[in-house]
Amino acid sequence: MTDPLETFHEWLDDASRRGVLEPNAMALATVDAEGNPAVRMVLLKHADQDGFVFYTNLESPKADALTAHPRAALCFYWNPPGRQVRIEGRVEPVADEEADAYFATRPYLSRIGAWSSKQSKPLKTPAELERAVAANMVRFPRGRVPRPAHWSGFRVVPDSIELWQEKPFRMHERTRYEAKDAGGWQKAALYP
Ligand SMILES: Cc1cc2nc3c(=O)[nH]c(=O)nc-3n(C[C@H](O)[C@H](O)[C@H](O)COP(=O)(O)O)c2cc1C
Repeated sequence: MTDPLETFHEWLDDASRRGVLEPNAMALATVDAEGNPAVRMVLLKHADQDGFVFYTNLESPKADALTAHPRAALCFYWNPPGRQVRIEGRVEPVADEEADAYFATRPYLSRIGAWSSKQSKPLKTPAELERAVAANMVRFPRGRVPRPAHWSGFRVVPDSIELWQEKPFRMHERTRYEAKDAGGWQKAALYP
């Protein structure tokens, strides 16, 4: 297989068929303006030749880091069947129209949540968040919730993708794909 994206989608579907919970969950590693690394889970919402897309609060620490330093690493792990995918690349903001279209597909309460959460800011009491949710439900009647300006997506445009397949006796199979300037991928096997 010379296209790692094709294998990625096969592996993602396979993990889903085997009952892995939230197979689209991925670790997202960033580096902030001071050079401090951070990693947290996010959900992959779209992946194609253009990159890997997730959505978040644009006023969150991860968004600040990605604005200061627009590169990221992603890591998926699925067990069964014992597979890891590592992705590294530059990061670009998702276009407003694309974010609007995705936001519109989210359940009502998820959209209300996007308006109500000041992600990663200190929360004095859970009631504070409950009040924000209640106020936003009054403000936005059912079904009519626009995307907040502080909520959108990022696309990780891969310059490398590594596929890791567990094998007996730690003879794991690793294949690293480097994006070529002219398009396509340079493929190399790695020691486990
Ligand atoms: C399985 C899982 C999926 C998550 N998906 C997202 C997501 O898609 N977007 C998001 O902003 N946070 C998501 N979170 C929460 C983040 O891990 C994190 O707590 C939050 O985004 C704040 O991160 P930050 O302070 O580094 O910006 C998810 C957490 C878990 C455990």
